[in-house]
Amino acid sequence: MSATRDGLLVWPEGPVLLNRVPSDFAPELPLDRCTLVHGFAPELAAWSGYGVQTADEIGTDYAASLTALPRVRDHGRALIAMAMQATVPGGLVLIDGQKTDGIESLLKVLRPHLELEVVSKSHGKLLIARRPDQVPAPIAAWAGLKPAAPEGWHTALGGFSANAVDTGSELLARSLPTPAGKVCDLGAGWGYLAPAILAHPKVTSLDLVEAEKAALDAARLNVTDPKAQFHWTDARTFGPKRSFDMVVMNPPFHTGRAAEPDLGRAFIAAAAGLLRPKGQLVLVANRHLPYESDLAQRFAQVTPLVQEAGFKVIHARIPTRAA
Ligand SMILES: C[S@@+](CC[C@H](N)C(=O)[O-])C[C@H]1O[C@@H](n2cnc3c(N)ncnc32)[C@H](O)[C@@H]1O
Repeated sequence: MSATRDGLLVWPEGPVLLNRVPSDFAPELPLDRCTLVHGFAPELAAWSGYGVQTADEIGTDYAASLTALPRVRDHGRALIAMAMQATVPGGLVLIDGQKTDGIESLLKVLRPHLELEVVSKSHGKLLIARRPDQVPAPIAAWAGLKPAAPEGWHTALGGFSANAVDTGSELLARSLPTPAGKVCDLGAGWGYLAPAILAHPKVTSLDLVEAEKAALDAARLNVTDPKAQFHWTDARTFGPKRSFDMVVMNPPFHTGRAAEPDLGRAFIAAAAGLLRPKGQLVLVANRHLPYESDLAQRFAQVTPLVQEAGFKVIHARIPTRAA
C-alpha cells in the first residue's frame, strides 16, 4: 500500500478496522490502535507476531477502516458494506485491491455513490473515501449478500464451492472406502463430505478441520451429528499426531489465483502425521496434480481408486516413519 508509505495518507485519530487485511500491510499501519478481523486462520497466525488486537466480529465506531478486496466479487462487496457501516460518518473508508480481484470494476460501481480519491499502484488501486452520513442504499444492501448455496446446504460467501457441490468432492464421497473409527476431514469446507463419512456406523468420531471461519460456521449448521467436532485452524499444524484411523481430503491447491501444489503436498504430510500406524488417507485431486511421489514417500501402499471428469481419487495406507 504505497500511498501510506509515501505519506499520502494521514490516518485519523481513533480506532482503525483492518478488514481481512493481509499481514504484509503491517509496516504501514498504526497497529497500536488497529483491530483486525480476518476469517482465514493462517493469515491470523501470520499477524500474531505484530501484537495487533483481533476480533471475530467487525464491531462499530471506527475512525477509519481498511478493507482488502478478496477474489470473489460478492464477498468483497459484503465486506465493504460492513466496513462502511462500522466506520463513523466522516471517517476514512479505504479499499485496497488488485486488478485481478476486480478493483477497476468496483471503482466504476462506487463512483456514482462516493467521492473517491484513487491511488494507483503497480498491480491495483487504493480507493479512499469519506464515510457519508448515510451509507448509500445500494452499498448498504451488499451487507445482505448471500451465496446461492446448493439445495439443502449452508455455504460461505467467497468460500470454496459456495454455489455448487464440487465435482471432485462428489467423486470422493461416492468412492470412499468404508471408513471406521476416528476420521478427520482436512480442509473440510462447509462439510460436504461429512454425511458420506458419518453414514458408516463404525465411524466413532469425525473431526472437521478448516481454515476459513465462515466455511466452518456453515459446516456447523450442515453437520449436526454429535460425533462431529469442528476446528478453525490451519490443517498443516493441526494435532493430535498419530491418532486417526482415516483422513479424508480434497486438498486446496491454490492461494488466491496462483496454483500452489505445495499446499496440497503440505496437506499430505499433515495427514501422514495425523494417522495411526495402520491409518489410511483418501484424497481427491485434479488429475494433473503431481501428488503420487509425495504419497509414495509418506505411505507404504498407494492405490489409485478411480479417475473421472478430470479428477482422481487415491487411497494411501500405512504412513511410513519418514512422515
Ligand atoms: C478444495 S476445498 C475442499 C472443501 C471440502 N472438503 C469439500 O470437499 O467440499 C479445500 C478447503 O481447504 C481449506 N483450506 C485452505 N487452506 C487451508 C489450511 N491451511 N488449513 C485448513 N484448511 C484450509 C479451504 O478454505 C477449502 O475450504
